[in-house]
Amino acid sequence: GSNVELTANAANLNQADIENNHSGFTGSGFIDFENNSTSGASWSFTSSQSGNATIKLRFANGGGSSRAMNLSINGNTQQTIDFSTTGAWNNWSEISVPVSGLVTGTNELSVSSANPSGGPNIDKINVIFADTDPDPTP
Ligand code: GCU
Repeated sequence: GSNVELTANAANLNQADIENNHSGFTGSGFIDFENNSTSGASWSFTSSQSGNATIKLRFANGGGSSRAMNLSINGNTQQTIDFSTTGAWNNWSEISVPVSGLVTGTNELSVSSANPSGGPNIDKINVIFADTDPDPTP
């Protein structure tokens, strides 16, 4: 399906900063969340359809253990994402999760740290909309 890209720079930051001190990020920087269980970020984006989507997050976790963040769409918690360690802060990985509850028009996606170490570093997020016609007649 079509998708929108949510860059680090477009985020509304809560106890987080845009940094560029670890290579491999796209755009002009990545989000570095403070090491606590309240840091987070949110984005507004426009959807031309309601319902489900896939959220793909590009992240690095150079810490020694996995870090969890809660993902919400329009204020509704979707799931707690477990970001595995990637071994180094310049080693980036991707994880995709399904979400529901998109509305036509303006939506809000937020991530919030769910452990005292805070989140991983997040480079960008893609919202991949469900195909409206997955099996088009040729
Ligand atoms: C290091 C690293 C940061 C990272 C932080 C963390 O300080 O340089 O990019 O965000 O660890 O533990 O979250």
